[in-house]
Amino acid sequence: MARKAFRLGICTGGGDCPGLNAAIRAVTRHAILTYGFEVVGVPGGLTGLLQQPLQTIALTLSVVDKIIDSGGTILGTNNHGSPFRDQQRAEAIKAQMIKAWQRLKLNAMIVIGGDGTQNMTKELAECGLAIVGIPKTIDNDLCGTDQTIGFSTAVEVAAAAAARLASCASALNRVMLLEVMGRDSGHIALHSAIAAAADIALIPEIPFETTALLDYLAKRQAQGLAATLMIVAEGAAPKGSDRSFQTTANGNRMLGGIAAKLAHMIQQQSSVDARATVLGHLQRGGSPNTEDKILASQFGIMAVDRIAANTTGSIICTRNGRFYDMPYSKVQDRRRVVNLKSDHVHTAEALGIWLGREANFTRK
Ligand code: F6P
Repeated sequence: MARKAFRLGICTGGGDCPGLNAAIRAVTRHAILTYGFEVVGVPGGLTGLLQQPLQTIALTLSVVDKIIDSGGTILGTNNHGSPFRDQQRAEAIKAQMIKAWQRLKLNAMIVIGGDGTQNMTKELAECGLAIVGIPKTIDNDLCGTDQTIGFSTAVEVAAAAAARLASCASALNRVMLLEVMGRDSGHIALHSAIAAAADIALIPEIPFETTALLDYLAKRQAQGLAATLMIVAEGAAPKGSDRSFQTTANGNRMLGGIAAKLAHMIQQQSSVDARATVLGHLQRGGSPNTEDKILASQFGIMAVDRIAANTTGSIICTRNGRFYDMPYSKVQDRRRVVNLKSDHVHTAEALGIWLGREANFTRK
């Protein structure tokens, strides 16, 4: 009698980002070609396990053929938050998900997600389900890993957009502001500011004085440098102020609007003109760059190897250029912010990029 195939599930949770399909492809190919597993996708994220009727997508070599370059995720995703937040219902929901897992006859699952998804997954992993996580998010704010899938592409897109705005700034001697994603972490803003040779980068980790910003612009103008390229993380805020939010038609608060506010303030309170551009989801959509394709493939291969070796219950992370397994017990409900003592911050300030504070080192 033929042995029943090992059934490996895979899902993508949270916001989309470039590189998800590259990871799905790597998992599917390695699982089938090396281990002979059967691979099924659970559509709609981890909470896809709560869908009625339960659905799966059979992942074969032909299904994942040529998806390495495609944006989004062939499995779909959702970012409606964790169903476990409702503590009264959390246990019942967990039980329902475990039941769905059993009905789908899953032996193990790979969950590709950011901090929200991985915190949710931690609860299921703690129930004894064989799960391995893969970190993704353009914000690069997952604790435990130096890099997540999607970040490199987002930086590339932001830097390219910023470089275009730089020529607008110099043509009309304006301040051009580019608002990039990053709720609590300014990784995209900081990295793209370095790559696009920006003059100013404002990040959530460094609340700034608006008067200091105006003084800095005035100083630049006095030096004949009115053209200014400024990158602002959506979560950046002046000292003592809340972050900027907008209200959607259905009443939800959505982060954003800081660049427009600052442009308005600059127009009102200085003699330089200013314009704001919000880059938004252009950072999340479309093809992954080469670095993300490689990273997603590596994460995918390693996750499958862990499953084959029966060493589950952890997320594959990268630290100082090496991969390691971070146990789900170490997953924290907080975001990885920019380390203000990091080499990237030093590089930015040494290049003369104003980060909203006195540069934290002595110039020779
Ligand atoms: O977590 C990634 C992120 O892109 C944030 O930077 C941003 O604030 C948020 O998602 C936007 O989410 P949504 O697509 O739901 O508007």
